Amino acid sequence: MAILLQNISNLLQVREQHIRKVSGIEMNELPSIKNGYLLIEDDTILDFGKMEDLGSINTDETIDCSGKIVLPTWCDSHTHIVYAGNREQEFVDRINGLTYEEIANRGGGILNSAKQLQATSEDELYKQSIRRIEEVMRLGTGAVEIKSGYGLTTEAELKMLRVIKRIKQDFPLKVKATFLGAHALPKKYKNDKAAYLDLIINDMLPKVAKEELAQFIDVFCEKGYFSVDDTNRILSASKQYHLIPKIHVNQFNAIGGIQVGVEHQALSVDHLEVLGNNDLEFLKKSDTMPVALPSCSYFLGIPYTPARTIIDCGLPLALATDYNPGSTPSGNMNFVVSTACIKMKMTPEEAINAATINGAYAMGIEAQYGSVTRGKKANLIITKKVPSYAFLPYAFGINHIDKVLINGRFV
Ligand code: NIG
Ligand code: FE
Repeated sequence: MAILLQNISNLLQVREQHIRKVSGIEMNELPSIKNGYLLIEDDTILDFGKMEDLGSINTDETIDCSGKIVLPTWCDSHTHIVYAGNREQEFVDRINGLTYEEIANRGGGILNSAKQLQATSEDELYKQSIRRIEEVMRLGTGAVEIKSGYGLTTEAELKMLRVIKRIKQDFPLKVKATFLGAHALPKKYKNDKAAYLDLIINDMLPKVAKEELAQFIDVFCEKGYFSVDDTNRILSASKQYHLIPKIHVNQFNAIGGIQVGVEHQALSVDHLEVLGNNDLEFLKKSDTMPVALPSCSYFLGIPYTPARTIIDCGLPLALATDYNPGSTPSGNMNFVVSTACIKMKMTPEEAINAATINGAYAMGIEAQYGSVTRGKKANLIITKKVPSYAFLPYAFGINHIDKVLINGRFV
């Protein structure tokens, strides 16, 4: 099956295969082809170039993209998209004055979602989750990382990870799974954190590894959740199972999570709403991708990750949604890109790089996703007619997407 996209007003994020991520000042460049074409063969990008260089070719389908922009689908490297029920009552409680922390301390928050998930069957959890998967695909997401962490018992964590595995098998978008047993301390272990760490290390981890349910390991490294020492223990224990760290750090407090992540060669460190003095120095000496989650800041009313500081010191940055029932009940990467421009002063070029190639790097899939490159997967967004790519984040909250292609097929 060959599909030709022709008369593309601007084909964005055209990269050579060797580009794995972009950092610092490079993030402000978005290589593109005006008045271009792109040829898809089955699930792969076969060729692209300027319309004037398009020779005669046989295709099964030709799509006119006059006035439209074509870009790679979004790579959402941080989500908790598999969950049961919702927490809109906590949202109302926050409007009425309670803080996220106060709600968590009353047994709400992550423990509330864990209670709902434990009481939900695997099939029902799958059903609830795939509605969100279908929704984010229509919003232009072609690759997604999904975490466990709302189970908090061995059985319920495995249930979550099995649902993620089913999604991986049943849907065309690329899925990477992360084991996040250390998301919150279950009530039962309130006065015995050591016992919960033992459960994670000696029971959950070996079972997750045996069923090959995860590629990554995560810890919520935060005051009141898991300390730097706890994080260190869990990441050390996960090494024998070859799980690569991608961790929650610096959301509310800078307690040393970045350093411990870098020491364990984390693929990414995520959140970073608050930075400690030496945090950027640790990142500069690493291959770890910093990841910002602006919809979480928007929803909770907490500071935005200081993107300018991070990029201006030469570091890369990725953008992701954090889609979850507590801090970000939205998986809309278009909103993330817009909010990054509006609230974090990222340029449209930086935001699009952060949401595509750098997002792919933060999932370890940059060889096949995240840019318009010959041989990469044909995962593409075709916009409606728009005047320029800056219009996409500028006209926020509006759906600019005409069509989404994942693995060379229309969603
Ligand atoms: O990334 N910070 C930790 N975990 C999620 C939120 C968890 C929840 O409130 O359910 C996050 O924001
Ligand atoms: Fe998260």
